[in-house]
Parts: sequence; C-alpha cells; structure tokens
Amino acid sequence: MNKPSLLVCRAIAPEVIARLEQHFEVRANQADEPWSPAQLIEALQGRQALFATGSERIDSTLLQACPDLRICANMSVGFNNFDVEAMTAHGVVGTNAPGVLTETTADFGFALLLAAARRVSEGERYLRAGRWKRWQYDTLVGSDVHGSTLGILGMGRIGQALARRGYFGFGMKVIYHNRSRLEDSVERETGARYVSKQELLRSADHLVLVLPYSKASLHAIGAAELALMKPTATLVNIARGGIVDDAALAQALRDRRIAAAGLDVYEGEPSVHPGLLEAPRVVLTPHIGSATGPTRLAMANLAADNLINFFCGDGPTNPVNP
Ligand code: DGY
Repeated sequence: MNKPSLLVCRAIAPEVIARLEQHFEVRANQADEPWSPAQLIEALQGRQALFATGSERIDSTLLQACPDLRICANMSVGFNNFDVEAMTAHGVVGTNAPGVLTETTADFGFALLLAAARRVSEGERYLRAGRWKRWQYDTLVGSDVHGSTLGILGMGRIGQALARRGYFGFGMKVIYHNRSRLEDSVERETGARYVSKQELLRSADHLVLVLPYSKASLHAIGAAELALMKPTATLVNIARGGIVDDAALAQALRDRRIAAAGLDVYEGEPSVHPGLLEAPRVVLTPHIGSATGPTRLAMANLAADNLINFFCGDGPTNPVNP
C-alpha cells in the first residue's frame, strides 16, 4: 500500500523526520524559511498530512485549495493558527502537543518575571554601555519576587506549574483567575486561591498571562486593565500575542502606570510593536518559552505520534476538533 504523503513545513530534528519516513512519503521544507500562504497551498497539493509549527494559518482558503488534506499536527500546545470550525467542516483533524512543554515554559515564565522585576536586561545594557562608574543606593532598583503576590491569568497546566514554583520556591501568595475554578485538591496542591479578574489585576505584584488565545481573550489586558494594576506591578506574557494590547502596554510603561514587563509573544509576531521596542523597563524575547533541546524534541515527537496514530493506530492522541 502507498504511504500517505506528509509535508513538514519547517526544519525539525532529523531523528523525527527519520521516524516519520517509516510511515509517510515525506517532503520537508529544508530551507527552514516560512512559506507564504500561497507556497504552503502549492506544497500541500496531493498531500494528506501536514506537520505544522503553530504559525501556519490553516483556514478555509487553504482547506478549499487542498482537498486531499486530512490532518494538521501542530508541534505546539497553542493552536490559534487553526480555524477549527472550518477544519471540522472540511473533515480535517487538527492536533496539538500539550503536556510536554509545561515545566519548560513555566521555567521561562519565571525567568522573564525575575528578569523584568529585577531589571536584569537593563543592568546588562547599563554595564555594556560603560555606565557603571560607582555603587549607588538607587541604581536599577527593582521589586522583590519572594514573598510577593503572584497573579496568574489562565490556570491550565502551565499556570499550575507557575503557581507551584511561586508558592513552594519563592514563598509567594498565589492568586489566579480562570474560566472555571479549579478543584479544591488542585488549589491546595498549587497553593493558589481563586479571585475575580478585577481582584487579580488589583492585588497581583506580578501578573503572568497563560491563557489560550481566542476571540474572547483578544486584548484581555488593555488600557483599562493596566490602569487597575499596581504602579509597582510586573506583567509577564508567555501565552500569545494579541492577549495584550501592545500599544496600551507601551504607553503604560512610558507613563509608569506599571513598573515592568516581560514579553515572549507579540501581536503580529515576528514583528514587534515599535512602542514596545522603545518602552522602558521591558524585557523582550522572541517566543522561546518552550525552547530547550529536550522539550523541542518531545514536542516534535508528540506531533509525529499524532500523525502516525491517525493513519496507523487508534487515532490521534491530541485532537482539538470538538
Ligand atoms: C506553544 O506550544 O504554544 C508554545 O507557545 C510554543 O510555540
């Protein structure tokens, strides 16, 4: 029997490609340059499967133009690149890669929080610019993380992993807001207390965003929400761009409405709002929350499992269609 045909749209670990080649006729984008939507449609002609990174838009235009497509597997937990309704209408399964990046991404959330609150990037720029001439009482004074109040918006796996780090590692008081309240046992185990979104914004010394992107979470943090936060607060976004109104955040930083921010994701990335590039007290990183060798390999292998199980097993493990 002919193997199904698979498009791998970016360069990934050769060992994962080798695994996929046992089950598929594989075309991989060796150039590692993102394809335009038209190039992606062209490359998908006659193929049944797509290995995606999480940034390729799978919408009704692509689905209509690629009638052989049966499955798109993201090697990311986020799947806001999928128009799930259109995929379901075209009989195309979408899968994501949850679980395997939880702890790595939570580590990175803390790295950004610490870097922003303790002004690590600013300190390095100050030193490299030759501005460090003497000790001064108030040079690059930041905010304490230990013993402060950690606010978490979105309490899925990564939110819970952040809560554990804050509660057990840094002796923080942890509060969270989520679509639904967690079971008592999970609240006890993570040391987290459920509060309203307003209370979260008002009470957090450090607020970390970990909620999924959807129409409902678009600009969940805008000028009105930033105005409720403490002027000493830090905001960290490791979720998705678009959840924060980047222009409003840049303005809030300029006006000292909040103390600092750490961002790994941006609306319209890889471009970054020019206001943020110029804003003070903000640490900016290029969407690397899950970027460690073992975790990237685990994510790629999980996407591969989903593809292999769809064609040769009991069905995909992580479907996102309802
Ligand atoms: C995810 O998996 O959604 C992370 O943001 C990495 O892309």
